[in-house]
Amino acid sequence: MNNPDFTTAAAEIAREAGQLLEHYFDQRVAVEYKGEFDLVTAADRASEKLIVERLRSRFPSHSIVAEEGGGVEHNSGYVWYVDPVDGTTNFAHGFPTFAVSMGLAHNEELVAGVVYDPMRKECFTAERGSGAYLNHRRLHVSRVAQFREGLFATGFASSNRRQEVNVHFFHRMSLLTHGVRRPGSAALDLCYVAAGRLDGFWEFGLKPWDVAAGLLLISEAGGVWGDMRGGPYKLGGPHLAATNGRLHQDLLKVFEDIANGRNETPPPAVSL
Ligand code: IPD
Ligand code: CA
Ligand code: CA
Repeated sequence: MNNPDFTTAAAEIAREAGQLLEHYFDQRVAVEYKGEFDLVTAADRASEKLIVERLRSRFPSHSIVAEEGGGVEHNSGYVWYVDPVDGTTNFAHGFPTFAVSMGLAHNEELVAGVVYDPMRKECFTAERGSGAYLNHRRLHVSRVAQFREGLFATGFASSNRRQEVNVHFFHRMSLLTHGVRRPGSAALDLCYVAAGRLDGFWEFGLKPWDVAAGLLLISEAGGVWGDMRGGPYKLGGPHLAATNGRLHQDLLKVFEDIANGRNETPPPAVSL
């Protein structure tokens, strides 16, 4: 079976899971806590159950790594990374920005990816070597070449809040660019870079299921990604920087300055 078949199958499954999420979203489900600020709902579990069942029946030899623990292990070299709801905090509050994310790696190389946003009926798909698409329309990263004209996004992990360093990066980037958005779904943020709606994205501590699909979208749309030091990014690595390519070095320079204590404009002291 070739890659396009993987993508077609994953898109069908993601749409089905998306319909399920719409149903739960309208009802406003109860929230449970996995950690101090780390939420999970019945919708996350139901979506994951559906996706894992469908993947197991279509691709019985593939491994599945799913956020809520519903995976399975085989040794075919194929691994699906599944986030049944990326943007659970948004979902739980009725804030309509969340997605289903499914990325497939073969021997650790990303080969297929689907991110489905049920609120906007937007299905982002990519196959290695065949381009990135939004509802079958070909995607390309933006052509913005001036750092100060870039629009960026980032996010903040739900765990380890007290150790969060990203506020420094968020502050500095907000001063240097058209702005920084914090939409709450890393999978969608990456797809928006692929679609040219954003020019770059960064975050600390993302998990493989947050990014597997979105990163392939970016590569196939002509963008670049790596770690914040300019090295390669491995799924689950400590930090990720992704851009349209043209702004990449400028973004890394900002990170380097902050990491080396050269933040020219630290956040001011507050007095109200
Ligand atoms: C979260 C979202 C968010 C990001 C967090 C993720 P979840 O995933 O992608 O944008 O900032 O780091 O954990 O918990 O909603 O699946
Ligand atoms: Ca996630
Ligand atoms: Ca999730």
